[in-house]
Amino acid sequence: MAKEIMDFRYLLNKQLTSVLHALPEDFNVLAMALESTNSGVVITDNRLDDNPIIFCNHAFENMTGYPREEIIGKNCRFLQGNDQAQQPLTLISDSIAKGVPITVELRNYHRNGTLFWNELSIAPVRNSEGKVTHFIGIQNDITQKKTMETELMEQIDILSNRLAKQEIYIKNVEEVLFGIMESARECLVILDKNLHVVKANPNFYELFQLSPEDVLDKKFTAIISVYDNETTLSKMFNDALNKALPFNDFRLNLSKDQCDEARVSANKIGLVGIKDDYLLVKIRCNYINKIA
Ligand SMILES: Cc1cc2nc3c(=O)[nH]c(=O)nc-3n(C[C@H](O)[C@H](O)[C@H](O)COP(=O)(O)O)c2cc1C
Repeated sequence: MAKEIMDFRYLLNKQLTSVLHALPEDFNVLAMALESTNSGVVITDNRLDDNPIIFCNHAFENMTGYPREEIIGKNCRFLQGNDQAQQPLTLISDSIAKGVPITVELRNYHRNGTLFWNELSIAPVRNSEGKVTHFIGIQNDITQKKTMETELMEQIDILSNRLAKQEIYIKNVEEVLFGIMESARECLVILDKNLHVVKANPNFYELFQLSPEDVLDKKFTAIISVYDNETTLSKMFNDALNKALPFNDFRLNLSKDQCDEARVSANKIGLVGIKDDYLLVKIRCNYINKIA
């Protein structure tokens, strides 16, 4: 390669004079801009065999570690080393063949063999007849961004694995808990932090003549028609939940169509790995007056 061909000023002069002859001063500005940008810039000549590089700026030399004299005359694929089974390369070939712009992310290799991620944008340059004579390539080293992306993906993987395990654990705990509730002889109800019913056992439904639709997601004190001590009961439930103050056999007057008097006990149930606390409520009725 002749020495003067490696000189970008000479090169740009030679190829762009026709376009820029009216603006010789601006041309220098353009040439300086290409040299001062942090992005790699290459120009390839599509009229020559294998579309070789005919110009590169300093940033491209810095990014790749290759000096200009080892770059000019080569096809840009030399940066891929043996890593040529990359899917974006097919996209590049297609867009070069069609003469359309493209942006891809590629694995490239420095002169010393270390990998770097190259965000590459390629744009065609057409002559007055519409024929693609050159391509301009802009390269940015995005290795840091890619490393962070990879680390983030690894973290997401770890977290979703943990979450999946936790979901299985919660399901198991739920099954055990619900199994115990089903077989218990007392009326048992689980309340959430708003004192709404999350689960009730068959004994509860049977004794109070209620169906799941009447009960689930409803406020407990509204369901069992507490007469005079609803406020006290709500306060005791809240204390049991928030202040870890369980209570036993609190006497409750109920409406006559349910049972005359009930004894209510409540315990907070906090489960490892489950954020919310729940309240396990046990009800014993002294007299049941079932609706026919
Ligand atoms: C202007 C221009 C710049 C390019 N820059 C790079 C580059 O920085 N790194 C790279 O791996 N490939 C680059 N390529 C792509 C390769 O030159 C080549 O087109 C690609 O490897 C697909 O063709 P192939 O399958 O014949 O190798 C560039 C292509 C053009 C036209």
